[in-house]
Amino acid sequence: MKTRAKKDKPARPVPRQTSGKHLSSNYAAIRRALVVHVDFGQARGDDEYAEFIELVRSSGLDIAASVMASRKAPDPNFLTGKGKADEIAAEAGASRADVIIFNHPLTPAQERNLEKHIKRRVIDRIGLILDIFAQRALSHAGKLQVELAQLQYLSTRLIRGWTHLERQKGGIGLRGPGETQLETDRRLIGQRIKMINRRLQKVRQQRRQGRRRRKKNDLPVISLVGYTNAGKSTLFNRLTGAEVMTADQLFATLDPTLRRLRTPRGRSVLLTDTVGFIRDLPHDLVESFQATLEEAREADLLLHVIDVDQNQRRERIAEVNQALERIGAAEVPQIEIYNKIDRHPAHDARAEQAGPRARVWLSARTAHGIDALLACIDRQLGRNIRSRSLKLPVTAARLRAKLFNIGAVRHEDVNEDGGWDMQVELEDADLSRLCRETSLDIAKLQSGLVHH
Ligand code: GTP
Repeated sequence: MKTRAKKDKPARPVPRQTSGKHLSSNYAAIRRALVVHVDFGQARGDDEYAEFIELVRSSGLDIAASVMASRKAPDPNFLTGKGKADEIAAEAGASRADVIIFNHPLTPAQERNLEKHIKRRVIDRIGLILDIFAQRALSHAGKLQVELAQLQYLSTRLIRGWTHLERQKGGIGLRGPGETQLETDRRLIGQRIKMINRRLQKVRQQRRQGRRRRKKNDLPVISLVGYTNAGKSTLFNRLTGAEVMTADQLFATLDPTLRRLRTPRGRSVLLTDTVGFIRDLPHDLVESFQATLEEAREADLLLHVIDVDQNQRRERIAEVNQALERIGAAEVPQIEIYNKIDRHPAHDARAEQAGPRARVWLSARTAHGIDALLACIDRQLGRNIRSRSLKLPVTAARLRAKLFNIGAVRHEDVNEDGGWDMQVELEDADLSRLCRETSLDIAKLQSGLVHH
């Protein structure tokens, strides 16, 4: 099968996993990929291939050609075996591919052998994901996280060295004189990893302080999570009216964004968008995105966005849940959001409660079902509602009106001072917010004394 490259697409190079920078300038010539899919008899072969193609396109590369292979077991030298490697080399020449991308993890030795044999750059799925991450990271923290992930990935395959191809061209082998260079590379990488970890530590500390401040303000935090491309950023924009980049590309979001949102019950919440999850992300990589993912762990509620249009829906839900478990966010209450129902006439906008988990079907694009989601958020966050008595003086009429507005008043008597004795049901956070908005002191209010 051959796919012709689109002519009007801008060139997007594949950087090597070197010192963590996105080395587009050095590799401006890389734009045509030959993709290799190896079938080892895995059950989800077709879907995996489709996702792989999506990943390659996300990196901005054109697919010049594809080669399919099927084997019982991986070949230790070439993964696909020597005969197939010959075929890939011939196809790479015929289709003028600049880079070969395997939809299967390659050992450093396989990668090296294949590069030597095909005489082109060879990367695997993880290398590709790292490349996409490098292109997408926007903030300081995001870039640091990508660099750390790249360095960690690189340090496991350092035998290759980042000057490997150059050395090869010069006819110098990987051992011998290269050995010292290798040791230097190792030491430098080790130092750089330490330095980035220190910086990231600082970023995490700042974020923690930010979160503490938010907690003090009693604002619940809601975090959007989900498989990459499920529609998190679109929903974020829909809910907050913000303009966050959304793109039909995987991992468009690598940095958490934060916005304030008001629910129908007048509750103020903070909404954060997080990085998309993807299958088989190496543990190190998930670790290095800690700073971003911690937002999810500290959240009061998770909105788990799911693409209703996906065959692999169930697997993807499980993968996201596993990733959440790994970062310690498994206990955070979750609403499952089945997004993109506009593509599926069989699904109508609705909400249901299945045990402790709420589910909402909606379209972030058309806004159909958004009201149901907002009501569901209110219900989920309202689980800490407490019943209490308040003694409001006449001067607290504004607060009284607000309490009625959000439906918190259960009973009311006019008292001897012309004020109100009220029985209300609401969360502590809501009461503090309403008191702040009306400049009333909550403690005095509960003891019946109110001062402006
Ligand atoms: P990552 O940043 O990769 O994690 O992606 P994301 O989950 O933030 O997805 P994003 O919001 O960028 O959306 C991905 C693609 O799906 C975009 O092309 C959106 O326009 C599209 N999309 C999102 N929501 C809907 C929807 O309700 N209906 C349809 N038809 N498309 C949608």
